[in-house]
Amino acid sequence: MFNSRTRLIIVNTPNNPVGKVFARDELEHIANLCQKHNVICISDEVYEWLVYDENKKHIRIATLSNTWQRTLTIGSAGKTFSSAGLKLEVVARCFEYELKRINSSECYFNSISNEFLKKCDKLVQALKECGMKSVIPDGGYFILVDYSQFASGEFQLDADEVKDIKFVRYLIEEKQLATILVTDCYITDHRHLAENYIRFCFAKKDQTLDKVIEILRKLKTN
Ligand SMILES: Cc1ncc(COP(=O)(O)O)c(C=O)c1O
Repeated sequence: MFNSRTRLIIVNTPNNPVGKVFARDELEHIANLCQKHNVICISDEVYEWLVYDENKKHIRIATLSNTWQRTLTIGSAGKTFSSAGLKLEVVARCFEYELKRINSSECYFNSISNEFLKKCDKLVQALKECGMKSVIPDGGYFILVDYSQFASGEFQLDADEVKDIKFVRYLIEEKQLATILVTDCYITDHRHLAENYIRFCFAKKDQTLDKVIEILRKLKTN
């Protein structure tokens, strides 16, 4: 993939949509290639505080040797505090307060992933009970779910329809359940790889997740 014409690479860890957290050796490999080919790295780390697998740790590629000079790291207060559109002053005050207790387990940055892991587990269990297979995320906001068992029965598909778009629309219109496409993250030639998957976001209030679970319990696979 890297060659003399490569100028820039975008890395995203923890990743949306697949939930992968890149390991140190993978990031080192990318960093070495960036150095060898003089490539700039844009590192999207908006889910940096949301890692659920205790054997994995978020590593900033910019902290690897000789990488910071060529890396632009992107974070997100909106994602970190699960609240888009926060006023800058509020963000600054949250960071100021939490950074003072960064070494404590009480610190928001250290406790948020435990809270989200419980939400993720709860949703994965409900999806399993309703017959859908989840790809358990290492990090981030989303669970990838294989919904292919629903391609018959109440949910009918005509040959010329795009399966995932129709299924997402069916869930919204018929079941009042909002999920997210995965294929829109892929180039046209690769879309078929993701067409059996949709995304469920578990970064929600517990009451909202309870409603989702109630809807899932009424859904039937065939
Ligand atoms: C990987 C990734 N990067 C960036 C963003 C944008 O983050 P923000 O809404 O804080 O601008 C998103 C939002 O979904 C995302 O998933």
